[in-house]
Amino acid sequence: METIEAILTRKSVRQFAEKEIEQDKLDILLKAAMAAPSGVNAQPWKFIVVKDQEKKEAVKKVLPFGKYNSPIIIVPSVRDLAVVPFNHDLAYCDLSAATENILLAAHDLGLGAVWCAIYPNKKHVKEMRKVLEQGPTVSPFSCIFIGYPSENDKSKVKNKYKENNVQVL
Ligand SMILES: Cc1cc2nc3c(=O)[nH]c(=O)nc-3n(C[C@H](O)[C@H](O)[C@H](O)COP(=O)(O)O)c2cc1C
Repeated sequence: METIEAILTRKSVRQFAEKEIEQDKLDILLKAAMAAPSGVNAQPWKFIVVKDQEKKEAVKKVLPFGKYNSPIIIVPSVRDLAVVPFNHDLAYCDLSAATENILLAAHDLGLGAVWCAIYPNKKHVKEMRKVLEQGPTVSPFSCIFIGYPSENDKSKVKNKYKENNVQVL
């Protein structure tokens, strides 16, 4: 799939088939994530892959709007804000870029995915850190539910281009 086509046809998928994701595809998703740009190339991330059913249920309990049944949940997380010099907010920009790379790579591989927010809700960050058994420096950023789209998946690509959202100076 061409890059522009992948960007323009990606959509959030929230209903998944009961089919596992092959390891080679998971490896590509993680490579895509870590290929993202990051401020001063700090790469302040850690990608937590949740496959265990009990853990997935615990993750879903934390998220009010993220209760989807996917074979895998990837949780892109800030590994340690201390690795980001100058401005720690940069880390969250980096994690956004990595999250979007995973969504696009998933789409290219014929998978479906949806980004559910953890950050900036402090309570959700704290609860998710506990559920995922992470140390105090780790900040879970987003939850990506990923799998093969279900036959019942009715999601549609939205055309969001609006000329009014552009200003040329
Ligand atoms: C920061 C962020 C947080 C989001 N949180 C949720 C969420 O909690 N639950 C959910 O179902 N979708 C969530 N989404 C997905 C959006 O609802 C979705 O991207 C939007 O409706 C546009 O649809 P599209 O992705 O199909 O283009 C989130 C997306 C972003 C970027």
